[in-house]
Amino acid sequence: MKKHIIVIAGDGIGQEVTAVGKQVLELIADKYNHEFTFDTALIGHAAIEATGNPLPDETVTKSKASDAILFGAVGHPKYDNDPSAKVRPEQGLLGIRKALGLYANLRPIKLFDELLSASSIKAEILQGADILFFRELTGDVYFGEKGRSDDRNTAYDTMIYSRYEIERIAVKAFDAAMTRRKKLCSVDKANVLESSRLWREVVQEIAPRYPEVEVEHQFIDAAAMLLIKDPKRFDVVLTGNLFGDILTDEASQIAGSMGMLASASVGDTTGLYEPIHGSAHDITGKGIANPLASVLSVALMLDISFGLKTEAEEVVSAVDAVLKAGFRTRDIADKSTPSENVLGTQQMGDEILRQLKG
Ligand code: NAI
Ligand code: MG
Repeated sequence: MKKHIIVIAGDGIGQEVTAVGKQVLELIADKYNHEFTFDTALIGHAAIEATGNPLPDETVTKSKASDAILFGAVGHPKYDNDPSAKVRPEQGLLGIRKALGLYANLRPIKLFDELLSASSIKAEILQGADILFFRELTGDVYFGEKGRSDDRNTAYDTMIYSRYEIERIAVKAFDAAMTRRKKLCSVDKANVLESSRLWREVVQEIAPRYPEVEVEHQFIDAAAMLLIKDPKRFDVVLTGNLFGDILTDEASQIAGSMGMLASASVGDTTGLYEPIHGSAHDITGKGIANPLASVLSVALMLDISFGLKTEAEEVVSAVDAVLKAGFRTRDIADKSTPSENVLGTQQMGDEILRQLKG
């Protein structure tokens, strides 16, 4: 199979973990006789430094012409401390999602048994949890009209959704539920927000097309509570951009670490695959970032964009095997991990590659 992949590593640990993800793709290509070609592109702080633009046109053009994008992260401390900076790294990421029409963000929360003890949640609550989030990505309060009053003392953001935006992601979520445990939980705040009332209406309209799927609606506040109280009750969770942002960070604690969670952003054309974590300035340059979220993002790419199920499963199995062998990065190590088993980013990558070579 021939595929062209754009690697957009971005900022901070994005560079470190994406290097490992790319090595996994190269090894899979080699092992299964696929022809994967690669190109790179700039985004975020790195792109601002080089061109003044967090999302250069060239990055969009290259991405549009690709079969898939392997993405790292964007962000730099400079902007975190200056919330009023007009040109910002995250505009690159929001912009590319919008430009490529990547409206559905899939975030599987998969708990590797070996990491039960890495979570701050009790093992008996976690064991068996397996959730697939569908977070809407191109609408909501992030893209609605925003502004300030003339005296700058009042500010507003607009939460806005249109029927077609809700429909297209709801259909994807229902389709996914059919391939899983056939349960779908739609999360909104329909008791207060008009955009949420529309969200719920549309989901209720689509539900009869999927009579086998058991549908429930939860308010975001209740959903946040239930996710920690009883994560096993969820199968597919469908929600908007803002609620999904918050819920999936919360859900990362089910998987033990931000460093373990992959995501796929898909629309009707190419797909973008990235860890859910950011550029993690606190550990940038130390070589200790967990690369497994990037490796698992590669597995999602192989599965969703390329339809290479066997290869995808092999990558997930390699992660499982390396964890079973006792290897950990610092974020998922605990008191029982012998210090020689606590690996750096590339060392962890090397163990994955060794597994994949067989
Ligand atoms: P973050 O996700 O970068 O880090 C949160 C915490 O998790 C940090 O303590 C970090 O060390 C740890 N962590 C994250 N990924 C890890 C990994 N792979 N291995 C080990 N530990 C890991 O979020 P934070 O600190 O709030 O933001 C840092 C920067 O990233 C900011 O500039 C923010 O705007 C940006 N950001 C970018 C995102 C993206 O590109 N998709 C998403 C979230 C934040
Ligand atoms: Mg987030």
